[in-house]
Amino acid sequence: MKERIKAEFAQRFGEGGTMYASAGRINLIGEHTDYNGGFVFPGAIDKCIAAQIKENGTETVRVYSIDIDDYAEFGLTEDAAPKAQWARYIFGVCRETIKRGGVVRGFDAVFAGNVPLGAGLSSSAALESCFAFAMNDMYNDNKIDKFELARIGQSTEHNYCGVNCGIMDQFASVFGKKNCLMRLDCRSMEFQYFPFEPKGYKLVLVDSVVKHELVDSPYNKRRESCERVAAKLGIETLRDAEMEDLERIKAEISEEDYMRAEYVIGEKQRVLDVCAALEAGDYDTVGERMYQTHAGMSKLYEVSCEELDYLNDIAKECGVTGSRIMGGGFGGCTINLVKDELYDNFIATAKAKFNEKYGHEPKVYDVIISDGAHKEE
Ligand code: GLA
Repeated sequence: MKERIKAEFAQRFGEGGTMYASAGRINLIGEHTDYNGGFVFPGAIDKCIAAQIKENGTETVRVYSIDIDDYAEFGLTEDAAPKAQWARYIFGVCRETIKRGGVVRGFDAVFAGNVPLGAGLSSSAALESCFAFAMNDMYNDNKIDKFELARIGQSTEHNYCGVNCGIMDQFASVFGKKNCLMRLDCRSMEFQYFPFEPKGYKLVLVDSVVKHELVDSPYNKRRESCERVAAKLGIETLRDAEMEDLERIKAEISEEDYMRAEYVIGEKQRVLDVCAALEAGDYDTVGERMYQTHAGMSKLYEVSCEELDYLNDIAKECGVTGSRIMGGGFGGCTINLVKDELYDNFIATAKAKFNEKYGHEPKVYDVIISDGAHKEE
């Protein structure tokens, strides 16, 4: 991929430039908790977006996407936004950097990626983090700290792409470290690396390859539900709520908001349980919590779908230790913690059964926990 990017860059823009890359992410547990001030437990993966970039001495950005086979050109002022959605991610990163007092000047870029799109692996965060990291390195002597780089990506989603996401994806893409998951407290922003090399187990993603239309942007709606409940309780986020608090206001909120909050409050504790279990080498508890998260995301938070519930059922039948829908939901992958000796049977069964029911096989990705945003040597 990197050779292709360099060749394409040379052909379009001439020699030179520097290559930057940033990764997609997985999340072991802690879903829809980031914007609730809770805990998440992600890691960067060996699938990334890479870009060859070079300053061009103008105030114009010229960029080509190999995967979409599309070219865009835009200025750096607020009124110069490009139309193409993919280019808005890059424009947003430039604008958010400038808004924070950072420097961005015109550049030429060619990029490509191998983060599967729509699989819940945060290809958009990888793209944002790649360019945020590059702008910091090229124009700002790396003075913008890494948390701010993650926030630049997050604000890009909020202000230029219409998704009121939390900080998890961009955080993971920027801070990722080989063989380590990271537990981030999204209220204090303190985090800790957890070496993650489970002996005798594999972590594997099973991609349903379905992406349900996000009519009425259900992601933002989930967030609004949580915010309504927090406001009712007079707290900033659901991080500070316990089940007793929720019970107290049950009659005053809608049934739907109650269910959303119930899930979030449960999920907060599950992340902590998983961290403790990992430290004790207790993978059964890790797996149990993963199944509980799936049930919560499916029945209470309602961000699963038939295909993902089916994959979860198959995992259970095959004796997989832990399995759950991963990421924002409404399609995408399940993440599965599988004993080595059960792996082949699980994958074969999932492929056959899914194919029988939906007419196509799911895709399978083995997870390799890798480094986050960086400059290629
Ligand atoms: C998406 C968002 C994240 C997070 C997850 C759900 O990936 O971008 O901020 O909320 O959904 O955990």
